Amino acid sequence: MIPLVDLKTQYEQHKDEFQGAINQVLSNTAFVLGKEVAAFEKNFAAFVGTAYAVGVASGTDALHLALRAAGIGAGDEVITVTNTFFATVAAIELAAARPVLVDCDPRTYLINVEAAAKAITPKTRAIIPVHLFGQVAPMDEINALAAQHNLTVIEDACQAHGARYKNRAAGSLGAAAAFSFYPGKNLGAFGDGGAITTSDAAIYEKLIALRNYGSPKKYYHPTFGMNSRLDTIQAAVLNIKLNYLPRWNEARQRAAARYRKNLADNSHVVLPAQAQDSTHVYHLFVIQVDGDRDRIMEQMAEKSIFCGIHYPIPIHLQAACSALNYKQGDFPHAEALARKMISLPLYPEITEEQIDLVCDCLNRLL
Ligand SMILES: Cc1ncc(COP(=O)(O)O)c(C=O)c1O
Repeated sequence: MIPLVDLKTQYEQHKDEFQGAINQVLSNTAFVLGKEVAAFEKNFAAFVGTAYAVGVASGTDALHLALRAAGIGAGDEVITVTNTFFATVAAIELAAARPVLVDCDPRTYLINVEAAAKAITPKTRAIIPVHLFGQVAPMDEINALAAQHNLTVIEDACQAHGARYKNRAAGSLGAAAAFSFYPGKNLGAFGDGGAITTSDAAIYEKLIALRNYGSPKKYYHPTFGMNSRLDTIQAAVLNIKLNYLPRWNEARQRAAARYRKNLADNSHVVLPAQAQDSTHVYHLFVIQVDGDRDRIMEQMAEKSIFCGIHYPIPIHLQAACSALNYKQGDFPHAEALARKMISLPLYPEITEEQIDLVCDCLNRLL
């Protein structure tokens, strides 16, 4: 069996370390905002190259709270892509702002900056580039556009832990960035978790309060905040995993290179394009196929090879977004990708034999 994501092998390989760290938290009993959280925030900020990191309960909360800390709310418009995970847009709604969607570059799947420029109105306050599948959006162009129109840039780095753009890490390229530690991410916890990275002291101070009932100091509440903290147990696990992240990302890159080599001659497969100036940490290896996608996936599943679709319905066609008044045909690139994309099995521990089996199967079917 070749799963889309395998969390078991990695757990088995590092079980003793994980269990030791978790047991330490259990005996200390500082389950909320214990010292492991502060240690992880320090380590993660150093890894990303920002002054601060703030642990929160999920990537969704990280985006939502980053928007609120940047002062974005009711009446404001926030531009992002329609080909993303739903949470990017849910976070904008949670902050009471209005999502304004744009299409992607069909080659890299990343935000089309020209389309973003055209979507700017007098109400636009922020832009959320999504570093989709593990590579960084064209940040120089986005930051230049933002500077021209006085917009705040919040990176959605939920799929790009360790990716680099012109030798700077994803998460250090805007005013703030959101990360998710959902278990299947390149850096994944043993449950939900997230973090915001920033070098802006004012945003940091606001986040510290917003994640903790709006309270910068116990029982003082100058604002309404949430209960959204990274659990101490999750921070203890993440502290261990952060040490392995660079080598796990390299393993993903090796796996991706083998997929590229094995599928290079298949004219029915479009391989993911490498974005200029960005490394790719392959959170997902997403190809496009010109055959019957569902049938291909079914036939692969019959051979116990499990693929995924990220994502089958672009945001503008989601029922929850009907009030935004988009329609089929508004974003042709994202719509075409949603019909053609398949995510192939990928995780640091995937073997060459497994990759070859996936490719043999695909090459035979297509
Ligand atoms: C691009 C993107 N944004 C936001 C999120 C939300 O993160 P979480 O599931 O931790 O809330 C995710 C991951 O699930 C994601 O992939």
